[in-house]
Amino acid sequence: MTKTILVTGSTDGIGLLTAQKLASAGHTILLHGRSDAKLEAAAAKVGGDVETYAADLSDLSAVRQLAQDVRSKHDQLDVLINNAGVLKAPDPVLGNGQDIRFVVNTLAPYLLTELLLPIIPATGRVVNLSSAAQAPVNVAAIQGNVPLTDMDAYAQSKLAITIWTREWANTLPDGPVMIAVNPGSLLASKMVKDGFGVAGNDLSIGADILVDAALGARFAEASGAYFDNDSGRFANPHASALDAKHANDVMTTLKDTLSQTG
Ligand SMILES: NC(=O)c1ccc[n+]([C@@H]2O[C@H](COP(=O)([O-])OP(=O)(O)OC[C@H]3O[C@@H](n4cnc5c(N)ncnc54)[C@H](OP(=O)(O)O)[C@@H]3O)[C@@H](O)[C@H]2O)c1
Repeated sequence: MTKTILVTGSTDGIGLLTAQKLASAGHTILLHGRSDAKLEAAAAKVGGDVETYAADLSDLSAVRQLAQDVRSKHDQLDVLINNAGVLKAPDPVLGNGQDIRFVVNTLAPYLLTELLLPIIPATGRVVNLSSAAQAPVNVAAIQGNVPLTDMDAYAQSKLAITIWTREWANTLPDGPVMIAVNPGSLLASKMVKDGFGVAGNDLSIGADILVDAALGARFAEASGAYFDNDSGRFANPHASALDAKHANDVMTTLKDTLSQTG
């Protein structure tokens, strides 16, 4: 059966290739990006049954608009792949003092999931992009005005999305399934080229595991789990994600921060 699937950050890298693979299997793909020109190019490349949605995820009001745009066209979204992410940015501190990594990599997907959950069926899935780079979260930094290096901000934002995946999934025993996935390290995307100056490994390693996480049987009973594609198996995330106090602090701060943005 064909599914309706939103892939955020599908104008480049792993997200674009994932969208191509899903579209070629006949699914309806909702492409998302922040650049109209890149969205147009991605739609041409992906082909098939695609729609395009533009929203800069560093602006949470744009995230709200994105959810509204999707809901105005769809009563059902089978899979949400929260793939968009950022490691380095020309201006990593946003106008309100927040770090762009926490906003794009952690808060925006949380908010988008919350706003789209009413149209995701119990049999649906939310696939969240984690990373092998995970570090304990300085919860004050989620709210902003705490200077962090690029790598610290990135690794903390990735542990934070892994934590909310696990914690939120525990509150949804009847579904939808929520999973955090490290797609594989140093895959050949512009994030890796810009961030580490290396060409990187085959992007298909990441795209194939996202397709599996979106549709494959082994993920159907894995809600709340973390899949580590470097080892090719479900694994424990960083130990801090399993620390109940840390997880609770992160969840409380995420919710507080989002409620303060209106
Ligand atoms: N590559 C790896 O080895 C690796 C390893 C672990 C985890 N990951 C994760 O995998 C995901 C995909 O990364 P990638 O490696 O494919 O990187 P990428 O090629 O840089 O792609 C990132 C995607 O996110 C979009 N994006 C970035 N900032 C955005 C914003 N403010 N608003 C809207 N869209 C935005 C980008 O849009 P533009 O096209 O406009 O830039 C692009 O479509 C990320 O979450 C990353 O953290 C990657």
